[in-house]
Amino acid sequence: MEKLKFTRDIAQLAVLQRIELANQFLMRIRKLFGRYLFSKIFSKYLIDTIKVSGKYSKLINDEYENIKGFLVDGQQILSIGGGIGGLELYILKKFPNTKIDLIEKNYVSNKIKYGWDYKNNEAYNNLSTTKEFFNLNGINDNQYKIYDFDKKNFPLKNYDLIISLYSLDYHYDFNFYSSYLNSVSKENTKIIFDTIRPDFFYNIFERLSVIKENKLTVHKSKRIKCEKFKLKHE
Ligand SMILES: C[S@@+](CC[C@H](N)C(=O)[O-])C[C@H]1O[C@@H](n2cnc3c(N)ncnc32)[C@H](O)[C@@H]1O
Repeated sequence: MEKLKFTRDIAQLAVLQRIELANQFLMRIRKLFGRYLFSKIFSKYLIDTIKVSGKYSKLINDEYENIKGFLVDGQQILSIGGGIGGLELYILKKFPNTKIDLIEKNYVSNKIKYGWDYKNNEAYNNLSTTKEFFNLNGINDNQYKIYDFDKKNFPLKNYDLIISLYSLDYHYDFNFYSSYLNSVSKENTKIIFDTIRPDFFYNIFERLSVIKENKLTVHKSKRIKCEKFKLKHE
């Protein structure tokens, strides 16, 4: 397993995006002082950057193992809600001819709630920190492009693979992206995401398989790999 290089800002976002990286002490502090102080201050100054980087690298390595069967060098990949982008940068290190477009949000909510948000308001990322993470770990600028969700200038191309771990249909409704994903996928595009309602997607896609079960995360969910929208937009 390769250990990724981190700064404190990167480690803070990693903890906010993967709350399982917070130790018991930090979780007690969150309960005691509330979500605002936790999101803004304690998640930054009460963490051990080296420990967080070790745990995050391991976690990303495990995610990589889970999806590596769907990766081929030279693919066009779209990532939705990739956070600081550990998995994406890991893929780019292994597959230097692959290109990844990342759509993410560019703010950290004041009081992060890890539930399902119908309004799609919650966010815990900073796009310049994502870029810094990629640079620090040796990824060239021409291997990826970052898009701010709120600017709505989504890239229009045909992707081979679309990934959204613990973001699309885990924290917010698939409908936010459904027609966009429909327009940027082709017959054999693989779309991988974690969802709390896998059965719903049998109506949307021709082919679906479960590639992971998540029992220890915020919600019980399944990671599904889908192909071919039943109703294709022209
Ligand atoms: C639980 S984190 C997961 C991050 C990363 N995929 C991972 O597996 O570590 C969810 C991410 O989704 C992002 N997010 C929330 N709403 C979004 C949206 N509408 N489009 C793209 N990203 C979004 C958040 O900012 C956050 O970084």
